[in-house]
Amino acid sequence: MAKKEAAIDALLSENRVFEPSRDFRSRALWNDPSIYERAAKDPEAFWAEQAASVSWLRKWDRVVEWNPPWVKWFLGGKLNAAYNCLDRHVEDGGGDKVAYYWEGEPGEERVLTYRDVYLEVCRLANGLKSLGVKKGDRVAIYLGMVPELPIAMLACARLGAPHSVVFGGFAASALRDRINDAEAKVLITADGGYRRGQVVPLKQNAEEAIRECPSIRHVVTVRRTGGDHPFTAGRDLWYQDLIAEQPAECPPEPMDAEDLLYILYTSGTTGKPKGIVHTTGGYMVGVATTHRFIFDIHDDDVYWCAADIGWVTGHSYIVYGPLANHATGILYEGAPDWPDKDRLWSIVEKRKATILYTAPTAIRAFMRWGPEYPDKHDLSSLRLLGTVGEPINPEAWVWYWKYIGTERCPIVDTWWQTETGMILITPLPGITALKPGSATRPFPGIEADIYDEHGHTVGPGSGGYLVLKRPWPAMFRTIYKDPERYVQTYFSKYSPDVYLAGDGAKRDDDGYFWLLGRIDDVMNVAGHRISTYEVESALVDNPRVAEAAVVAKSDPEVGQAIVAFVTLKAGQVGDQTVATELREHVAKVIGKIARPHAIIFTDDLPKTRSGKIMRRLLRDVAEGRQLGDVTTLANAEIVEQIRDMASVRTGED
Ligand code: PRX
Repeated sequence: MAKKEAAIDALLSENRVFEPSRDFRSRALWNDPSIYERAAKDPEAFWAEQAASVSWLRKWDRVVEWNPPWVKWFLGGKLNAAYNCLDRHVEDGGGDKVAYYWEGEPGEERVLTYRDVYLEVCRLANGLKSLGVKKGDRVAIYLGMVPELPIAMLACARLGAPHSVVFGGFAASALRDRINDAEAKVLITADGGYRRGQVVPLKQNAEEAIRECPSIRHVVTVRRTGGDHPFTAGRDLWYQDLIAEQPAECPPEPMDAEDLLYILYTSGTTGKPKGIVHTTGGYMVGVATTHRFIFDIHDDDVYWCAADIGWVTGHSYIVYGPLANHATGILYEGAPDWPDKDRLWSIVEKRKATILYTAPTAIRAFMRWGPEYPDKHDLSSLRLLGTVGEPINPEAWVWYWKYIGTERCPIVDTWWQTETGMILITPLPGITALKPGSATRPFPGIEADIYDEHGHTVGPGSGGYLVLKRPWPAMFRTIYKDPERYVQTYFSKYSPDVYLAGDGAKRDDDGYFWLLGRIDDVMNVAGHRISTYEVESALVDNPRVAEAAVVAKSDPEVGQAIVAFVTLKAGQVGDQTVATELREHVAKVIGKIARPHAIIFTDDLPKTRSGKIMRRLLRDVAEGRQLGDVTTLANAEIVEQIRDMASVRTGED
């Protein structure tokens, strides 16, 4: 082990830049660096050219209309996303190609060709139609990683009914809030899902959620785990029964380029999740282009994005991008360490995966488990690796390079967001010299910059705010039912034509971008965005709690760990049992991903004279740092007490 760590240290200390190999470069779809200048000179022409990757029912009249901060792409164009992902490939004779190799956590497998997916999407679309779903109606989808998830999304897209996928790890109340905001008419769920050998009770959670969802008319349930479930006559249907009698032909709805494709909720700095709105034409062009060229997709590739479809990574790079590109993908239902810590590597070997895209958190877990797990398997099919979701520390990057890519595979560290819809800062694997820990450069046609507080570009080496200065096709169009928040959150700091990403960044002397993490009260726990406010609301929802403040603390494994400072109501005692109760309470309200790592009980919270909680000081306490300026505090004495309390943490993982 020590020897292996020394090998990683040696790679790191070389300060090496990793050039693409001659072989990789010669076979890559894009290997001429002039693509950057060409796109920068005329971005509209560049995107117009890329728009040919999509089949249009009616060709667009205009590439882009930028009315800051409002944008429209491919104006006048008509298309259907499901047609682009399925029908056109089947029509072109590509129906027999595998769309997904699916692997259930307990060990079952399914191989679905493009034709299989096409036929089932048509049946389900007809089934949904029979339930009254039509263009413009919202459909909520709450499923685990089963083939029915992409099928349900595409059935909605076929009908022009925007979907709102809710991650299967969310709890009932999180599901309820999202259904209510979208006013979804139908919910598609499953009786359960498998995770680490346990059954996640999806239908039970759904039942609890929809008790308070007046818009839901029908619940369609996929039979996955079995068992008895309460069924409400007239409202409930089994997925399998619904599609059984349906014809396998269903004309795709012609959609305007700017018609809504989906809503996906993400955390912001308030307790109310934001419904990020993606439309059809620009999104399809953006995800198809970036997927093809960043992952260098060739016809024989077996591409595996190991994210969950419940997040944007899965929407763009498991469903819409790869299927638009007629790629073969892998879908895995369960946990990477079930039944053992080599599960992913056994799937790579079995399916001869050529491309693997995962999160730094997962890579850090692999590191901790040790190289003996990948070493047990033949990973020689891999030729390209990717990461997404949080900054990757150079050590994890080098480990990924050495033990998974066996020093042959370029790594694309891709920066983007739910809002951006597509990858924006990334290496191009046949062109870019890689530096561990840097997402390198903006994709061709993208203009990113780093600003100081006053909107001036900062020089190399200095940190600042990451901004985007030109619209891109897959960018979100608004926040569902809240355009004001769209303007306020993203386009008000500088000017309406400058998008504030919410991340800190710096550039080095070569112009490479280094992402530094969030600059707002959004935490990034194991690659998942969670707002401090959401966790605080969940805590104060418990009758014992008077007040709570939540901060993130850096953590070697999950990136950031949640630390909650809690003041209890009079008469309550903050002991281990209460801490456990509160942690479980948050898991119940939001989901396990938001469960605080540590709870620290205090008599009061540090506040300014206007009553604002000083999270900055709490962050210092959580990190064990020297405390910053306390002179503006109304209750300075409390800080000392909190610092002492922090050493007797309660309820830590
Ligand atoms: O802070 C950045 C981080 O994840 C945030 C976006 O989260 P979400 O909308 O959930 O989408 C995640 C998957 C696209 C960003 O604001 N982030 C994402 N990718 C990277 C990253 N931070 C550093 N490097 C990345 N490659």
